[in-house]
Amino acid sequence: MAVREIVVFPDPRLREVSTSVEDIDDEIRELVRDMQETMYFKEGAGLAAVQVGEHKRIFIADPVLAGGTREDPTLVFINPEILDEEGTQDGDEGCLSFPGIFAPVKRAAQVKIRAMNLEGETFEMTGEGILARAFLHETEHLDGKLLIDNVGRIKREVIKRKLKKAAK
Ligand code: NI
Repeated sequence: MAVREIVVFPDPRLREVSTSVEDIDDEIRELVRDMQETMYFKEGAGLAAVQVGEHKRIFIADPVLAGGTREDPTLVFINPEILDEEGTQDGDEGCLSFPGIFAPVKRAAQVKIRAMNLEGETFEMTGEGILARAFLHETEHLDGKLLIDNVGRIKREVIKRKLKKAAK
């Protein structure tokens, strides 16, 4: 297991579209273990594989988002698909690829997702509140879409400037 380096905006790797996982082999299991270690080390609530430089359609989420505790198994979503979105919610959103940035993003209040777990079984889950937000945010990562794409033009410039300064 290893904590991997987080790919930070504006690294162009974040814009690449991730490819579907065909086989859940040792390489995928190791990637997911590393993602878990990285997410907890960085104190993130969710992490997509692209954020550690692997363009695979996988994301994980802290079980706390689903009403569990850190002792519960990490939520793993392989080849996720958003099936349904209902209602709206307002709230601030962060991302490990945008360190120190929190921006208001309007999202659906309730989101239904279908994905595969590490055993290769397909499951469906409906999330509300921050879990719904995580489903949408993390699935967007797999298509190269980012937090900054969901904010207005002025906020976008502020974020770009802040991260440019931080990179110096
Ligand atoms: Ni993110």
